[in-house]
Amino acid sequence: MKWEQLWLNYNKTTNYIDKEYFANIYQMTQGDIVNNAVKELKMAAMEMFGISITVEKSIGEKQGIILQLNNDDSLGEDGYQIEFEGSKLVLSAPTQKGILYGVFHIIRQAKQGEPLRNIHKKNIPNNKYRMINHWDDFGGNIERGYSGKSFFFGNREIMVNERTKDYARLMASIGINQISINNVNVREGASWLVTKKYLPKVKEIADIFEGYGIKLFLSINYASPIDVGGLDTADPLDDKVINWWQEAAKEIYEYIPNFGGFLVKADSEGRPGPFSYNRDHAQGANMLAKALEPFGGVVIWRCFVYNCRQDWRDTKTDRARAAYDNFATIDGFFASNVILQVKNGPVDFQVREPVSPLFGAMKSTNQILEVQIAQEYTGQQIDLCYLVPMWKEVLDFRTHCKEKLDTVADVVAGRTFGHVKCGMAAVTNTGDDSNWSGHDLAAANLYGYGRLAWNTSLSSEEIAREWISMTYNLDKMHEDTLLEILMGSWATYENYTSPLGIGWMVNISHHYGPNVEGYEYDVWGTYHRANHLAIGVDRTSKGTGMTQQYYPSNTRLYDNIDTCPQELLLFFHRIPYNHKLQSGKTLLQHIYDTHFKGVEEVEEMIKKWETLNEVICPVVYERVKVRFDRQLENSKNWRDVINTYFYRKTLIKDEKGRHIYE
Ligand code: GCU
Repeated sequence: MKWEQLWLNYNKTTNYIDKEYFANIYQMTQGDIVNNAVKELKMAAMEMFGISITVEKSIGEKQGIILQLNNDDSLGEDGYQIEFEGSKLVLSAPTQKGILYGVFHIIRQAKQGEPLRNIHKKNIPNNKYRMINHWDDFGGNIERGYSGKSFFFGNREIMVNERTKDYARLMASIGINQISINNVNVREGASWLVTKKYLPKVKEIADIFEGYGIKLFLSINYASPIDVGGLDTADPLDDKVINWWQEAAKEIYEYIPNFGGFLVKADSEGRPGPFSYNRDHAQGANMLAKALEPFGGVVIWRCFVYNCRQDWRDTKTDRARAAYDNFATIDGFFASNVILQVKNGPVDFQVREPVSPLFGAMKSTNQILEVQIAQEYTGQQIDLCYLVPMWKEVLDFRTHCKEKLDTVADVVAGRTFGHVKCGMAAVTNTGDDSNWSGHDLAAANLYGYGRLAWNTSLSSEEIAREWISMTYNLDKMHEDTLLEILMGSWATYENYTSPLGIGWMVNISHHYGPNVEGYEYDVWGTYHRANHLAIGVDRTSKGTGMTQQYYPSNTRLYDNIDTCPQELLLFFHRIPYNHKLQSGKTLLQHIYDTHFKGVEEVEEMIKKWETLNEVICPVVYERVKVRFDRQLENSKNWRDVINTYFYRKTLIKDEKGRHIYE
C-alpha cells in the first residue's frame, strides 16, 4: 500500500514571495546528512514551485541559499543560524544535523507562505533528547497501536524500504533525533535484535536514520544473558552477566558505531529486572551503562515500576506512589550515562492526571519526560483528542524544587539542575496505515510532539495552526474551523469519560469504551472505590500520603479540598456526591452535566467538520467522518454508562431533568 506524505506533502504553491531563493543552492559542505537536506530542498522546490534547483559547490552571483558549517558552539549540536547577505540566505550550523533542521525550517516557512526573513536568526532546541519510542513487536503487531501494523517488523523479520526513509524524513522534519524501534515489552524473539543474527539488518535502518540525524535505540530484555546467552542468571553484579553485556555492546557498536543505546523496562508488569536478584534499579542500570559507556551509548531506564499484583482489599498500597517510592531514594546512585524516563503522570497516561512528583525530586539524575502520542486511554485514534494542550500543562507545571527554573520543562531541558542528558520521549502513534496514524487528525499529535520537544514555549494553538497549514490547503476561515475542532477535543474527551482525574473506568485489557468497575476488583491498583455516598481514594497527607511526594507548596495545594484544582479533585480526594464544587454544583451534578455536555460537543465537532466537506480532499474527509461517527457512538455510550452508574448508586436525579437510564 502506498503511504501519504503528511506535512511533507509539497503541494503546488505558485505565488510564494521568497521562491527565488530556491533556485540556487550553494552547498559548501558535503556529507550524507547535508546531501539529504539538499535532496529535500530539491523535492520541495520542484513540487511546490516547479523550480529545478541548481546545486553548486562554490558561491555564485545568483540569489540562493548557502549551506555551510560554522564554528558557533553556542548553537550546540542541533542548532542553526539564518542570516541574509545580499541576495543570499545563509544557513549555517556547527554540524550537518543543524543544517538539516534549518532546511526543514526553511521549507516549513515556505509551505506556510511565510517570508524567510521572519525566521529567527538563531534556533536552538530546548531539549537534547527528542525521542520517539515504538511499541512495535517483532511479529508485526504494535502494542497499543491503532494505525495498522509495524513498518519495521513483520513475522520476526526486519523490513527496510522506501517507507523507512520517508519515516526518517518525517521525523527529522519535526526535530526527532532518537528513535527506539521495538516494544519495551521485548518478546516474540526480539531479545535477539542485539545479536549478530539481526544486527546487519538493524544496521540498515540505523544507516537510514543516521542520514537524517537520528540515533537508533533498541529496547532490551533484562534477562537476555539467560534467554539469549544461556547463562543461569541475569544478576547485574555477576561477572558473567557483566561480561555478557560488555561483549554484546561491543558487537553492536561494530555494526552500528552511532548506536544510541538501550531502552529498558525492568521489574515492570512482569518484565525481568534487578529486583529478582535483590539489586536496586541503580545497580541494574549502571551495569548496562558501563557496557555502553566506552562507545558513548546511554541507558534509558523507565520508572514505570509498581506492584501490578495488588489485592483490591488492600487500601494501604497506592500505585500512584510507586515510581517515586522506587526511585527518589536512589537519586545520586545512577551513572552519568543513565537517564530515567518518567511518565508524565504518576499512574498511566490517563486523560487527566497530576504531574509525576519525580520531576524535580531527583537533583542528581538525568530525566526524560515520557508522554504517549498513541491514544491508549484517550480514544485510540477513533475519538479525536489533540494532546498538545495536555503536554503543555505538564511542561508548565511548577515543581517548586527551586525558586526559579523549576517547571517540568526546565527540569527535562537541563536548566534546573544542569543535566546534559535529558529531554522528552513519546510512545508513538504510527503504523502502516496509508495515513500513518489511523485518524488523519491524530497526525497533529505526532507533529505537535516533535515541535514541542524542540521548542517547549510554542503554544498548542501555534502548533495546531502550523500543522494544519503544513498538511492542508485551507483558507483562513476553514483553518480556524479545524483549529477549533482540535483545540476543544481534549476537554471534550475528558467531559464524556472518567471525571475529575479519577481515571480508568475503561474496558479491561483493550482500554476503549466505558466499564466503570472493570478494574475495580482487579490486581492493577487502579481503584475508585465508589459506594452510594462517595467516590475516590484519599491520597492526601491524611490518606495514602502521596501528596507528600511533592514539594511543600504543592502538597498544601493538593491536600486542601478547597485549593486542589477541580479537575484533579477525584485524583487526590475521596468526595461525597453532594459535595459542592467551586462552581456551586454538587459533584454528582457536575458529573451529569459534563457527560451531557461531552456528547453535545462531539455533535458540534461533527457539524464543524461537515463545513469542511468541500475543502478537504474527499478521501480524508470521509476517513475522518467515519471516525467521528464512531466517536459519537462512543461518547453516548460513555455518557449513559457513567450517568446511569452514578444514578443507580445515589438515586439522585439530574437537576435538569434530562434522561438518565435507570
Ligand atoms: C501501559 C500499557 C501497556 C504498556 C505499559 C508501559 O500499562 O497498557 O501496554 O506496556 O503501559 O508503559 O510499559
